[in-house]
Amino acid sequence: MKPVGIAMPGNERLTDDLAAHFDFDRGLATVRRFPDGESHVRAETSVEGRHVFIVCTLDRPDDKLVPLLLLACAIREAGAVSVGLVAPYLAYMRQDRQFHAGETISAQHVAAWISRHVDWLVTVDPHLHRIAELSQVYSIPSRVAHAADGVASWVRLNVNQPLLIGPDEESAQWVRDVAQRAEVPFIILAKTRRGDRDVKVSIPEVDRWRSHTPVLVDDIVSTARTMIETVGHLRRIGLAAPVCVAVHAVFAQTAFEDLHAAGAADIVSCDTISHPSNRIALASAIAASVREFLP
Ligand code: R5P
Repeated sequence: MKPVGIAMPGNERLTDDLAAHFDFDRGLATVRRFPDGESHVRAETSVEGRHVFIVCTLDRPDDKLVPLLLLACAIREAGAVSVGLVAPYLAYMRQDRQFHAGETISAQHVAAWISRHVDWLVTVDPHLHRIAELSQVYSIPSRVAHAADGVASWVRLNVNQPLLIGPDEESAQWVRDVAQRAEVPFIILAKTRRGDRDVKVSIPEVDRWRSHTPVLVDDIVSTARTMIETVGHLRRIGLAAPVCVAVHAVFAQTAFEDLHAAGAADIVSCDTISHPSNRIALASAIAASVREFLP
């Protein structure tokens, strides 16, 4: 029997895209709120004896986690052989240490909750920094699909004489990989974050790059302060208006508009979170990872 893929609300397009890459039955679930704000979920498709996966990207995760975990429980109780999670954006990975007294390492707790309810996880380039591997926090098997190939192809096809720029050390792993695949030069800047929206980025040595188009690449754009600060520097020192590329287009509140207003020539993202900037499709890479968990 074919596996069953169920899209949580908002994940239908990605689930359709996955269906173009491998064969599975589309399952249905009701996910709604009771008048008091609690979640009500129901598996509408029979899943008895089936391998099931739920597609649920986890931006704005607090509203999504409760219905997701309840649906995983409902599916298992309805007799599924296994329940996997395809979460192209994996939330809470940035809270990977206790930054201040009294805080907790959220990444560990959220990973433990998810690990308790699903059998496997597929995601795209999770924010692995002080946590080096997902297995340090997730007790279930996981696979990471990578955006580098898609980003490199997009850059090669769309940008004239690109210079890839990573705004901070944490971005070095993605930027280096993309640069090697696209066979273009790259530099990594140094960032100091003083608060959610207070970010300082070092000024790069630029003389040799004046004829290039700067392409800022980062894994997550949330407030966009990191990119806005970097765009400002590059413009002040006379480089061309940069193209900004995000793997995960979180774009909190007015971040997208703010980044445009700061002087980005273009803003492009992968489709791990549905957003108007999506131009790099990753379904093929995600599908390859999902298939590893299915019979
Ligand atoms: C940080 O470590 C990440 O790689 C990104 O640089 C960061 O999440 C960007 O956040 P924001 O858009 O809020 O500056």
